[in-house]
Amino acid sequence: MSRQITIFDTTLRDGEQSPGCSMNLAEKLEMAQALTDLRVDVIEAGFPIASPGDFESVKAIAELVKGVQVAGLARCNDKDIDRAGEALKGAEAPRIHVFLATSAIHREFKLKMDKEEILRRAVEGVKRARNLCDNVEFSPEDAARTELDFLCEVVEAAIKAGATTVNIPDTVGYATPAHMYNHIKTLVDRVPNIDKAVISMHCHDDLGMAVANSLAGIEAGAGQIECTMNGIGERAGNCALEEVVMALRTRNDFYNADTRIDATRLVPTSRLLSGITGMEAPRNKAIIGRNAFAHESGIHQDGMLKEPTTYEIMRPEDVGFTKTDLVLGKHSGRAALADRLKALGHPVQGETLVKVFDAFKRLADKKKEVYDADLIALVDKRSPTERDWSLVSYEVKTHTDDPPSATVTLRRGAEGKTEEQTDTFFGGDGPLDALFRAVEKVTGLQMEVRDYRVHSVTKGKDAQGEANIEAVCDGRLYRGRGVSTDTVEASTKAFIAAANGALAGGGPPADVRRNAV
Ligand code: KIV
Ligand code: ZN
Repeated sequence: MSRQITIFDTTLRDGEQSPGCSMNLAEKLEMAQALTDLRVDVIEAGFPIASPGDFESVKAIAELVKGVQVAGLARCNDKDIDRAGEALKGAEAPRIHVFLATSAIHREFKLKMDKEEILRRAVEGVKRARNLCDNVEFSPEDAARTELDFLCEVVEAAIKAGATTVNIPDTVGYATPAHMYNHIKTLVDRVPNIDKAVISMHCHDDLGMAVANSLAGIEAGAGQIECTMNGIGERAGNCALEEVVMALRTRNDFYNADTRIDATRLVPTSRLLSGITGMEAPRNKAIIGRNAFAHESGIHQDGMLKEPTTYEIMRPEDVGFTKTDLVLGKHSGRAALADRLKALGHPVQGETLVKVFDAFKRLADKKKEVYDADLIALVDKRSPTERDWSLVSYEVKTHTDDPPSATVTLRRGAEGKTEEQTDTFFGGDGPLDALFRAVEKVTGLQMEVRDYRVHSVTKGKDAQGEANIEAVCDGRLYRGRGVSTDTVEASTKAFIAAANGALAGGGPPADVRRNAV
């Protein structure tokens, strides 16, 4: 019988910490629900002491999701731990995750503490967390570079103090598979009370070995893997959930281990994350990349037609790619659209379905063929609030010898209570700049664009373009996404979406690293 490995997802904590991946509360809640539907075992929802926003999102996630453990991160000090306990109060199955660095480099230069003090604080931290919660995880940060004798000592003491999971991070992505195997095997062989806790892997990808290192830990006896969707995370990222899960499943013959994950939700969850963060996975990314199951060479195509297993070790539908891509046209009905969106992992109903169907009909009038990616791009689950602006129309004039000018009409407000405003901007660095300035005039905001990208979501001349913008307003960073068959319109919509974020406020500081970890 296969061992069941616990999947601890840290997309919303370690993943969200990475530049360009911050999410607002609504986005975090949507992602947390998707991770629950994916059947991860634990969701690390955030680091409650880091900011009031982090506290609120951990609290809201804890209250929302059911059938999954929710973890909150804390350093080994009373304030952090109490704050984490407070944020997790509403959770069905809370877990407090306390950490303290143990390696010589961190002891000497970061913490300025000797081994004795580290040991004492680790024990005190775990005990305090255990007073608030039965489910406590302890992480000796930078464990991969910690002397093995000391690591064994700390792990033994943490388990004695009440830790139910001991996580062994390769914080800086320095380890190799053999190194990680040896670390875990040493703990299994030398820590007398190791059977009282689950050993967990937490590997970063600085040398591209996070997945391999996590799997090596499983071979040596670890029972939990910490990972993120699309492998997002600090610097080069964390162990990619989709890769490690499919490695265990596809090579079950070797690892004799599996997870609870519903693999057919991998692609929809990955796309949801890309849509929220604007950070597309590379085309050749294992499991969820657009090319992961594409066969180009004639010899491979011939083999595939004769017998798919000649060149495919997994089936695309097993990880959530849909078999047929070209689906709907302008004669398709609402039920067909609802069915297709459900199969794509975006169930919509009621009022939202009416709106999406309307947008679909408009798109089908412009495009002969509506692909799955077009449909996904149409689903924007966020309904406008009274504060939000949306694009009614735009006009832009540009000529080789003259400065551009742009006029926009925007509508503000939710259903039934809307106002429209028009303004024009003359000049700017180009037509888009003129359009963005005109939006600024209407909204009264000043936004500096930091990052701007456009890509097509489907193929062909009439493909829809998706624009992603990152802009700074009052020192805080806001993201916006816009989709249209017209890239200028998509860009303007993306800029307006970022402006709406700025109106809501609370974006992460543009220049300062937000978290203490
Ligand atoms: O990489 C790391 O060491 C961490 C810990 C907080 C677990 O993220
Ligand atoms: Zn980490």
